[in-house]
Amino acid sequence: MFIVKNVNIILRILILLCPCTVEFNSQNQKVVEEFNTVKQSNREDKLYPPNWEALDKRPLPVWYDSAKIGIFVVWGVYSVPSVYNEWFWYRWKGQKEPKYVEFMHKNYKPGFTYPDFASMLKAEFLDTDEWTKLFKSSGAEYVVFTTKHHEGFTMWPSNYSFNWNSMSVGPKRDIVGELVTSLRKQDLRVGLYHSLFEWFNPLFLQDKGNNFKTQKFVATLDDTTTKTMPELYELVNNYKPDLIWSDGCPGTSSYWNATEFLAWLYNYSPVKDEVVTNDRWGTDTMCKHGGFLTCTDRFNPGKLQKRKWENAMTIDKLSWGFRRNAKLEEFLTIEELIASIVETISCGGNILINVAPSYDGTIQPLFQERLTQMGSWLHVNFEAIYGSFPWKYQNDTFTPRVWYTEQQIKTTKAVYAITLDWPDKYLYLQSPIPVQDQTFVYLLGTEGQLQWTSSPQGGINITIPYIPYNKMPCQWAWVFRLLDLQNA
Ligand SMILES: *[C@@H]1O[C@H](CO)[C@@H](O)[C@H](O)[C@H]1NC(C)=O
Ligand SMILES: *[C@@H]1O[C@H](CO)[C@@H](O)[C@H](O)[C@H]1NC(C)=O
Ligand SMILES: *[C@@H]1O[C@H](CO)[C@@H](O)[C@H](O)[C@H]1NC(C)=O
Ligand SMILES: *[C@@H]1O[C@H](CO)[C@@H](O)[C@H](O)[C@H]1NC(C)=O
Repeated sequence: MFIVKNVNIILRILILLCPCTVEFNSQNQKVVEEFNTVKQSNREDKLYPPNWEALDKRPLPVWYDSAKIGIFVVWGVYSVPSVYNEWFWYRWKGQKEPKYVEFMHKNYKPGFTYPDFASMLKAEFLDTDEWTKLFKSSGAEYVVFTTKHHEGFTMWPSNYSFNWNSMSVGPKRDIVGELVTSLRKQDLRVGLYHSLFEWFNPLFLQDKGNNFKTQKFVATLDDTTTKTMPELYELVNNYKPDLIWSDGCPGTSSYWNATEFLAWLYNYSPVKDEVVTNDRWGTDTMCKHGGFLTCTDRFNPGKLQKRKWENAMTIDKLSWGFRRNAKLEEFLTIEELIASIVETISCGGNILINVAPSYDGTIQPLFQERLTQMGSWLHVNFEAIYGSFPWKYQNDTFTPRVWYTEQQIKTTKAVYAITLDWPDKYLYLQSPIPVQDQTFVYLLGTEGQLQWTSSPQGGINITIPYIPYNKMPCQWAWVFRLLDLQNA
């Protein structure tokens, strides 16, 4: 117990006070050296020019990789009808899908329009301090909120969204402002999701009609008749986000003036040193340009990636927005959620876990339960997650459903083997090579070391002690800390 506690404390201190002293494995070390070279040369020329080649070289602020887990909150006017998913307006009026048309016909009076839903977004139970308490208890370190989805409704009183924002209609509140204040009070990093395009905005449709040769919807900064870019600058200046999660990209990044915005963001904005961005800045950028890569929704490649990436995924498997008609089996179980977390982090990703609040500002108990279960798991196993690095093996070469991370503890490298299935009597791992009388093995959340033998087939064979059911350190996915391996 003593050793376990000590390591925990040292780690906590390392993570809290000095993330930069955590050392890297050799592969990461090389990446970091490259980053530092870039940093050095930036200090000389100071500014990032507005092109992808230069912007892609900006080192990702360290907080992001270390944080590992974020919560994605998708909430807007679509949360009022709350059937099928958050693309409701487009499916109903854009594609005229029969089940949407029929739903509206059956339940609303003739002439009812999508904007009529906005006044029903009353948010009468919304308490952003309560939301934040839940997010904090989940163990997540950042929260990303939909400030504006493709419907164009801004959740803050934007000067560029006349009469289609949360202060003029519906809640009559600055939702983004309230949430940002709550998150900061609880030391959670602030991420703002923002959709570049809007399904039905006439200016956007005009540009689209002109094959994106005009920019009436996008530029310029001081013209209040334009929309998307002025809005983004307004968000950054008012709320000083740590992360901008851009989305929704018909049109190229040059149509969106994305590199101009990012150059401003990294060179001059009030968040230039700490801000992180993603890769959704136009049809030409996804999985290629920007800060971290999101590639596709629910991207989870199962192998190590060259660049920092994020798995943006949902607890409700079928929707990002709230659905009243969801069924229990359509939600991830806690076992499935933890498997996604572990696979993602072992391969160098962060995971962004979506929860969908209801139109009235409540978060349904099923989402609450998943998040608090995750928090209880992280409470025991945090040292294998926060601030960790991918190991040389991502999953075991022999035993299925075992994933690895590593962490520097003072002068020693700890390797964590995370097994998604409880091993019966012994756990054979082929990838870690132990050293007789030197390698120590622990099960996180229990006292003392575990016995092991070198296997004739190579690798380590850990003897699992008998643990009474009510003494198990956790109920899903168990973590073994391996110290002083030959191949750490
Ligand atoms: C909108 O413009 C007014 C007047 O310039 C300014 O005081 C206010 O802060 C602006 N709102 C936002 C959200 O930036
Ligand atoms: C957007 O790009 C256009 C054309 O390159 C330029 O004229 C305009 O000033 C840019 N606007 C912003 C806000 O960067
Ligand atoms: C895990 O490891 C094995 C053996 O090294 C490999 O073939 C497999 O593709 C890996 N990934 C997954 C998701 O199991
Ligand atoms: C691991 O140890 C157990 C118990 O002694 C044994 O049955 C098993 O064959 C060993 N596995 C390997 C791969 O060495």
